[in-house]
Amino acid sequence: MNVLFATPECAPYVKTGGLGDVSGALPAALAALGHDVRVLLPAYRGMKVSGELGDGIDLPADGPWPAAQLLPVRADNGVPLLLLACPALYQRAGGPYVDSGGHEYPDNVIRFGFLSRITALLGTAASPVEGWQADLVHANDWPCGLAPLYLAHAREQDAHRPVAASVVTIHNLAFQGVFDLEHADLLAIPRHWRGIEGVEFWGQLSMLKAGLQFAHAITTVSPTYAQEIQTPAFGAGLDGVLRSRADRLTGILNGIDGAVWNPSTDALLPHRYGPGDLSGKSRNKATLQARCGLLPDPNAMLFGLVSRLTAQKGIDLVLEGLQPLLQAGGQLVLLGSGEPQLQRQLQDAADRAPRAVSVNFGFDEALAHLIEAGADCFLMPSRFEPCGLNQMYSQAYGTPPLVGGTGGLVDSVLDATLAPETGTGFVMRSPDSAGFADALARARATWERPADWGRIQANGMRRDFGWAASARRYEAVYAEAIERARPRSFSTP
Ligand code: ADP
Ligand code: GLC
Repeated sequence: MNVLFATPECAPYVKTGGLGDVSGALPAALAALGHDVRVLLPAYRGMKVSGELGDGIDLPADGPWPAAQLLPVRADNGVPLLLLACPALYQRAGGPYVDSGGHEYPDNVIRFGFLSRITALLGTAASPVEGWQADLVHANDWPCGLAPLYLAHAREQDAHRPVAASVVTIHNLAFQGVFDLEHADLLAIPRHWRGIEGVEFWGQLSMLKAGLQFAHAITTVSPTYAQEIQTPAFGAGLDGVLRSRADRLTGILNGIDGAVWNPSTDALLPHRYGPGDLSGKSRNKATLQARCGLLPDPNAMLFGLVSRLTAQKGIDLVLEGLQPLLQAGGQLVLLGSGEPQLQRQLQDAADRAPRAVSVNFGFDEALAHLIEAGADCFLMPSRFEPCGLNQMYSQAYGTPPLVGGTGGLVDSVLDATLAPETGTGFVMRSPDSAGFADALARARATWERPADWGRIQANGMRRDFGWAASARRYEAVYAEAIERARPRSFSTP
């Protein structure tokens, strides 16, 4: 299959969260199955991409759409990238979605409308890449959400030319790309799809909803989240749409990129180690304590946390549960960025106990790896979690995670209280302070029994979280989508 994997972020070039990691790894795993996979990604300011650069392809201005260029690059991991270069839209100080002050760019509607537009174009006979048209367009999250609608429109306009099938993946239903419906003209959304059967969402325009309505298949990043989002509590207003499309909704657990997240080869670690010998892990703990100004005590149970600081991640539960953690002699290292209010509270906590609590704000890839490796236990008490990657990284790094009982966390962590022989972490029994305190007490008590703790570490390190199995599931979904998109013809006997 010719597959276009369209995404607003892709590690190691640009990453704000897990979608970056997924985009950096899944296309390569699909290519390894023999597909011709190309990744479409905006060319943001300051992005460093190494690889072999091909000739730029001009995309002339077209009605509301600006002129741009596609820059083909064969990336170092062998996957061809198509960088969508449009300086007026993507060369900004700040991140992919928000400016340096954390505010959404006012023209995100056109920035990602355009990304969707070019995504769709590559799936039609008018594909600007000579000799290459996608058979399947994989649109990730709301920034690519309009692509399935544009493809459906292309199909409607000319039934005789092949148009790619489309799959949309929901990485997080909390982000939907909702804009004023007045933008429908600017985005060239056909009039008959501006209502509730199309892009309309409570009087506004939802890019993600467009994807859900028009894609031939919908996936999300874990089987449990696929169930959860069909309920009002987790559906963020789209549960009805998702229930109505349940027959084409599949949950596929993310994998982890073993080239990046493997403690025995991790170039970002001062000390590498493997399941047979955890002495390097202890040395990383000492390095982490020293770097963060914590008491250099090998016997203090060190908790790590790396996260966007938002309500989703249950950071408030950690704040509430901090006293018992410290009273039991524990330490905490946190790395994150996000809501200013949470940052202030965390900073206060660190100021009160500087030798036991270290908070680090900003995005720091090397420190994220050191925390995964140096901590004894990883905290991830999310209120909802579509998949989550850190709980898998921490298992691979011999750092049993304490996780919320939701989404991909329950699909990837086996509770060691329920399964003492095979468990790999601790799953909260309720999504609140009591649930956190209980899981913390269980983790703490187990840590006091080194043989039991060692077994949990070993169980986690032995697990295979590689992408190969999930890539096969995507392949099957792609095939189904293509089958659904095929024009039907029938003959009577
Ligand atoms: P989400 O995508 O919801 O943020 P995931 O667990 O799927 O959650 O992925 C988060 C990814 O982003 C992980 O690779 C994690 O290490 C990384 N990450 C999050 N915050 C930071 C940070 N402040 N510095 C470095 N890496 C971070
Ligand atoms: C989202 C989710 C996270 C998931 C990631 C990659 O950011 O919040 O749970 O792991 O996407 O799919």
